[in-house]
Amino acid sequence: MSLKQHILQLFENSRGQALSGQQLADALGVSRASVWKAVKSLQSDGYQIVATTNKGYVLQPTNDILSEQSIRACLPNKYDGIDILALKTSPSTNAEAMTRLMQGQLKHGALIVADEQTNGRGRMGKSFFSPKKGIYMSVCLCKNIENMQDVMVITPAAAVAVRRAIADLTGIDAKIKWVNDIYICKKKVCGILTQADIDFESGKAGTFIVGIGINFVEQNFPDDIKDRACALFEGQPTVTRSQLIANIYDNLITFSDDLKDREFMAEYRTHSLVMGKEVCYAINCEEKKGRVTDIDDDGGLVIQEGDTVRKLTCGEISIRSSENEWI
Ligand code: BTN
Repeated sequence: MSLKQHILQLFENSRGQALSGQQLADALGVSRASVWKAVKSLQSDGYQIVATTNKGYVLQPTNDILSEQSIRACLPNKYDGIDILALKTSPSTNAEAMTRLMQGQLKHGALIVADEQTNGRGRMGKSFFSPKKGIYMSVCLCKNIENMQDVMVITPAAAVAVRRAIADLTGIDAKIKWVNDIYICKKKVCGILTQADIDFESGKAGTFIVGIGINFVEQNFPDDIKDRACALFEGQPTVTRSQLIANIYDNLITFSDDLKDREFMAEYRTHSLVMGKEVCYAINCEEKKGRVTDIDDDGGLVIQEGDTVRKLTCGEISIRSSENEWI
């Protein structure tokens, strides 16, 4: 780690508190002049480090630059050994994670985040709008999951991880739209894309990349999504992206360590946007309608239409939210 990164780490570990030049110099065994130079360099990178008379430098609590250090400072110590990569820009954090995993550069639990994506990927081959100041994170889960049902609940686990983190840190009661979208007031704030690396010899997947994209602050959404998308914060955010990322990460790793338990599925159902609702979906290109009666422990959506009961395990649905409105 460079001196600048060491200093950033000390600031991140004591956000909002003053650290004097002498304290920093002593902690790192360098001169005050070197500390001053590193602080200047961090300031010119955009870090809100304010010099206060007699007390020293303060990293402002609202400073929201994503860095490995800012995320580590928000994570419990048990995650000290994980790989964290914070990028200013990336085509796609999922693609980045996949490439680096293939090259053996990342281990289980690795976290890749970016401030923006230039080729963000969504489900069903769609793109994902990924401007600056969003949350784009990919978590690598390298575990052999024998049971296909357990694989199917990775995405619901991620949805609960995001919803719980948002509720705990902001008090916002977001909802989960089956399978993996997070909604606030009938608009999508977050999407999740889980990708797996399949071993064609055994037909098994040993590596999963869980990609999470959150519209963190108000953006000029493109025309095709502007009526359907929203941001978590319309004004000044009350949490930093690093706090939210760390909280989501901790939830996701905790759930994924015990997928069989399915404890998170009760929370998934409680906060579902679709339970009891009339939905529209397609089977073999044929449009169907029905009412959701349950979501089972494997994430399957149980839909009743007259006497027919069907279970969807994947796909997309629209929900009737009023007489003529579907979301
Ligand atoms: C969807 O809503 O269709 C899923 C969107 C998933 C977006 C995230 S952002 C981080 C990761 N990298 C990507 O390219 N996609 C996922």
